[in-house]
Formats: sequence, structure tokens, C-alpha cells
Amino acid sequence: MAYVIGVDLGTSGTKTVLFDEMGRVIASHTIEYPLYQPQNGYAEQEPADWREAAFDTIRTVMDKSGISPEDVKGIGLSGQMHGLVMLDAENRVLRRSIIWCDQRTAAECAEMTEKLGLDRLMAITANPALTGFTASKILWVRNHEPEIYDKCRHILLPKDYVRFCLTGEYATEVSDASGMQLLDIPGRCWSDEVLEKLEIDRELLAKVYESPDITGTLTREAAQRCGLRPGIPVVGGAGDNAAAAVGTGVVRDGKAFTTIGTSGVVFAHTSGITIDPKGRVHTFCCAVPGAWHVMGVTQGAGLSLKWFRDNFCESEKETAALMGVDPYYLMDKAAMESPIGANRLLYLPYLMGERTPHLDPDARGVFFGLSAMHTKRDMLRAVMEGVTYSLRDCVEVCREMGVNVSDMMACGGGGTSPVWRQMLADLYGVPVGTVESKEGPALGAGILAMVGAGMYASVPEACDAVIRTGKIQQPIAENIPVYEKFYRLYTQVYPALREQFAALAALK
Ligand code: XUL
Repeated sequence: MAYVIGVDLGTSGTKTVLFDEMGRVIASHTIEYPLYQPQNGYAEQEPADWREAAFDTIRTVMDKSGISPEDVKGIGLSGQMHGLVMLDAENRVLRRSIIWCDQRTAAECAEMTEKLGLDRLMAITANPALTGFTASKILWVRNHEPEIYDKCRHILLPKDYVRFCLTGEYATEVSDASGMQLLDIPGRCWSDEVLEKLEIDRELLAKVYESPDITGTLTREAAQRCGLRPGIPVVGGAGDNAAAAVGTGVVRDGKAFTTIGTSGVVFAHTSGITIDPKGRVHTFCCAVPGAWHVMGVTQGAGLSLKWFRDNFCESEKETAALMGVDPYYLMDKAAMESPIGANRLLYLPYLMGERTPHLDPDARGVFFGLSAMHTKRDMLRAVMEGVTYSLRDCVEVCREMGVNVSDMMACGGGGTSPVWRQMLADLYGVPVGTVESKEGPALGAGILAMVGAGMYASVPEACDAVIRTGKIQQPIAENIPVYEKFYRLYTQVYPALREQFAALAALK
């Protein structure tokens, strides 16, 4: 039997899974690490923590499994996108990584838009300048820490730093590189125009591969640390969302997935490139060579329900503890006791501002229509529906762009709720399925390793062999027009409050 390893470098920890060639989990291990927030809006992590977590989790899955290192045929990497790792001429890490959720670079985003022009930025990088993306972080270091920038010889993304530690190669791949905002997204290569205008030396950047390509092999030193043999191929892998797409089989036109984690993501595969001129969704290269994806983000998805649970559901938490079940299970049951529309109560899930479709950091959460007759059950249902309306907004933008969304998978913590999945099916008007595997990005990275190692001929072929689908929920015909009325009203509430959100943000 042949095996592969998928390493998923997340924000809370690194999860490494050893899979057999059918995608079955043989062993899995996670190591957590801290997130540093030295100032409001700052978010940093220590690349050495990522390196050690990768080495140690690989060694642990090998020890747990007891399989021979000879049988491991490839390693795939997936991870949090956009983070900035800077190395000096001796490959020493120059500063903590500024990661994806850091918001310090508003001035650098303005600088990028001024130097490149919004039209060229959109045409080349498929996005307006965004604080989360890597390019503005590079400019921030140049503007605020010039002595560090002067010493910098290599710029890498988080998982690509781990690749460097495993293989000694400076390499990346198109899906993660898309989130640096230095890549020509239609051309799938570094953009000379962007690099020249921003005065960033191309020599600093890694070589760009397609996701299943072999980017290097395990060094003797790394093999020793990991309990593996030297020479094992390490493939490109993918950014976490692109890897999750492979791990859920979203690799052909028409296929899409919705993740309800802390934030919510709607990710749709597209074999032809399409860019939203308003920048409401990201267009990135995907892990299937020659294809792209369109991705909308709802900032406060699972976060909304968690916020509700932690502030208003003490009794459900206590009962759940006595019953030995998850509080979310009881909250699901309670939400089902309220009808569609939650007795005419709407919720806007903008607790953390909103990306798609409003791109408004000042937007805030709203219960609209609250009356004395409402109960906690109605509020719970309204929260779940409001998150689903906001995800429907993402699907609407995809459809407006001509991206076919006809086959939806549900993932993330919220995706395990049958109530939430039915809301998605009714509001999207398409069947919503699940996959048996819970490994998402790690499985995606593993599948890319299988393709790179020659175990399968292509990413779609590997997905057909490896991914087993679970339950499918069909839209319920009579629910659709009822939800539609509430959704239409929901879309009118944010525009009516936009100015007031800005005024609220300006209040001391
Ligand atoms: C994608 C994004 C996140 C990060 C962290 O644009 O910001 O999904 O990759 O998970």
C-alpha cells in the first residue's frame, strides 16, 4: 500500500494526517501555537512554531501508524493564506509573520491603489488592494521597518516557509500565490507590472508551480527530524480554501462548497477566469491546473452563533453538559421550533464588518423587527437564517458573474447542522451535500501529493477515487418562496443603514 502525508498549517494549529491511497485516515496529529496581537488590529505568528509543529506532527503520525517510511510516496502542504515570512541571506527569519487577519495596512493599500490604479489592480490581481493580502504587508515592513526590509532576501507564505524547511527550496504554487496580490491571476505567473510599480524585487519571490507539481524533495536533515526517508517528493499543495475544495471534490464546473466556520466561505470552481469588477468576491487560481475559483466571504458566520451561545445560552450549555451533548445540538432543536422568517425577525451577521458583498469594515450586527412576542428560539433561528442570507449574497454575486453553482457541499462546524444545511439548500435552490471525510484541507493536500507522486493522473481523477459523499439535502419546494420574501427584505436593510454604520464607527 502507498501512503501520503497532508500537512495543514492553520491559524490555531498545524494538523497533519497520514492517508492511504484511498484517502482513508491512518493517523492524525495536531499541535497548537499562539497568535500574537501586540496592538489592536495586529496579528502575528512565529514561523519557528510552524516549522516545529510540522516536523513534530509528521514524526508523530509516522510513530502512531507504524508504517514503513519507504511506503510514504509524497507530502502535500496546505495552509492559512496571505501571511508574510521574510528571510535574510542566511535564511534566518527576520521578524514574526504578519498573518492574514492583520489589519494594519490601510495606508499601504491606498499607496498600492495610487501606484497601480484600481483598474490595473483589478485586471491583474483580480482584487482591489486588501489589508489582509501580502503585498500591503510587504510595503508596511518597507515603510516602518526599513532596516528589516533591507536585510530581506526571500519572501515566503506560511506553508511555503515549511516547504523550505522540508526541502530547502524557495517555492510556492498558484493558489496561495494568488493571495499575495503580486500574481498575474489570468496568466498564473508573477506580474512584472505590479512588481515594477511597487518596486519589489522579483528575486525576493519564490518559484511558482501548479498545485500538484513536485516542488522539491525531503532533505536528509528534515527526513531525520520527521522519521521519513530523504528524497520524498513535496508537491505544491494549496492555500487552505483551495485545498478544502480538493478535499471535498469541488474540482469541476458547477461544483461549489460553503464553509460555516468562524467566518463563512462560498467557493465556486470555474474553468474560465471571471473577475467581479466591484471586487465583492476574490478570484484566485485554484489547485486544478489551468482553473480558477471565485470565493465570497461572510466575516461573522459561525462566529454569530457562537456569540449568541456564549452570551444568551447559559441554560442550554448546562442542559447539554448534563445530557452529554453539544450545546449546538440543543440550539438546533430550539431553532426548529420557530417558523421560517423567525416570526418576522431578521438578523444581519455583520459583527466583524463584512467582506462580500459590502466590503464594509464599519457594518455591524442588527436584529431587525424585534417585538415583545419574540423568544430566544426566534432569535436563534434569525441568527442562523441571517448567516444563510449573507451566504446567499455570495452565491448571488457568483451567479451574476456567470459562475454556475448547481452542486453545493457544506463543510465546517456549521455544515454539520442539518437545520443549517436545509436553510442553505432552500435559499440556494440547489441540493446541499456533505463528504464523509472531515479532513478538508489536509485531505486536499494529501490528494495533491497523490497526483504529484503519480498515483492518479489528475486532480479530478484522484477526487473521484478518494472522496466519498455523505448525506444530500434537497431544497424543499414550498420553503423556497417563503424564504425568498424574507431574503429580499434582508437585502434592503444594509443599504438603509450604511451611513448610520459609518456614523456609529465615528462616535467616540
Ligand atoms: C482567505 C483567508 C482565510 C485564510 C485563513 O482569503 O483570508 O481563509 O486563508 O484561513
